[in-house]
Amino acid sequence: MASQMVGTKKACVVGGTGFVASLLIKLLLEKGYAVNTTVRDPDNQKKIPHLVTLQKLGDLKIFQADLIDERSFDYPFAGCKLVFQVATPVNFASQDPENDMIKPAIQGVLNVLKACAKAKTIKRVVLTSSPAAVSINTLNRTDLVMTERDWTDTEFLSSAKPPTWGYPASKTLAEKTAWRYAEENNIDLVTVIPSLMTGPSLTPDVPSSIELATALISGIKSEPNAMALCCQARSPSRMWKTVPELAKFLHKRNPEFQVPTDFGDCPSKAKLIISSEKLINEGFSFKFGIEEIFDQTVEYLKDKGLLNSTHKMLFVYCDSGHPGSFDGWLTQPLEPPCALFVHHPQWEKTDRPPYVHRVLHKYSRR
Ligand SMILES: NC(=O)c1ccc[n+]([C@@H]2O[C@H](COP(=O)([O-])OP(=O)(O)OC[C@H]3O[C@@H](n4cnc5c(N)ncnc54)[C@H](OP(=O)(O)O)[C@@H]3O)[C@@H](O)[C@H]2O)c1
Repeated sequence: MASQMVGTKKACVVGGTGFVASLLIKLLLEKGYAVNTTVRDPDNQKKIPHLVTLQKLGDLKIFQADLIDERSFDYPFAGCKLVFQVATPVNFASQDPENDMIKPAIQGVLNVLKACAKAKTIKRVVLTSSPAAVSINTLNRTDLVMTERDWTDTEFLSSAKPPTWGYPASKTLAEKTAWRYAEENNIDLVTVIPSLMTGPSLTPDVPSSIELATALISGIKSEPNAMALCCQARSPSRMWKTVPELAKFLHKRNPEFQVPTDFGDCPSKAKLIISSEKLINEGFSFKFGIEEIFDQTVEYLKDKGLLNSTHKMLFVYCDSGHPGSFDGWLTQPLEPPCALFVHHPQWEKTDRPPYVHRVLHKYSRR
């Protein structure tokens, strides 16, 4: 895939402050691209120091732009051949996901694509989608293989409103909107669907997906609410990790930490996998296996001083009825540091906080 990019020397990365976007900027600079990136607030000294550092690697310009303002992309897109739309509104704790995530995500991709069409020079737009746009449905099986043909069931999401439903709804509807607009306006669009991202980050703060991916070992959490994870990730050797598999690996590799290994009734089989076949057929190869990625993540967290063996861990398995979701921001505040994985097989039939209390009581190590 990289070879197709050679010769396209100016690219814009929308949402440069983020975990994925800043790594992408670094890669593009290392490959010799001139890069424009957009951030919402270039004066926010807490969010841009890593971008300022990246400016030492090459021609990186930082522009102000907001997804909700189409015209703000005019300058950053000028002269670019590639646009990477990585930014997305994320607010898992939102009480109003419609207005906080869904509408701005849809409007955001439309604004970016309209600005691309206006710029005239742009040959390709790459949109970062998510497994959340693929994997959520009401099928109750363990052998699902999801491909680019599969879409999350947004009718289910908007009628049942499971915890964190706004994020998968926003990603699905934004990606569908992007495809529709691109087809109608003859834009060369590619969407990528990364799985849960972890590994050393350039960002000043630890990204939420790293917190999620390493909650089994670190117990880190950044919100007063608890996090739940149904974890699946793919390694080049076609191994899939369920939460118990991942825990076993982390426990063995990092015996100094209190990684839980008793998972009660957590299923040992992954409910679904997201196929990378198309990507691999296009020439992509994985640089690291999942074990290396987690080793690097542990080193990264140690370097940040965020891992010590006194972290407490709570484990409960989360299965909200839609396979593959990373759902479960719950309403019950917990005392940090701790991470929570919640078993919630029939969330729609239960009153969440009392149910969570019960689960907490059952599984708490305290
Ligand atoms: N991380 C994962 O595990 C994972 C997995 C699958 C897919 N993805 C997708 O990959 C992309 C990047 O994820 P990430 O983890 O790198 O996210 P991240 O670190 O949270 O970054 C999100 C970015 O979006 C920007 N943003 C939010 N609302 C915006 C708006 N209205 N206008 C302009 N920018 C806005 C943020 O800017 P501010 O700094 O101004 O807030 C931030 O730069 C997202 O599309 C996400 O859905 C991520």
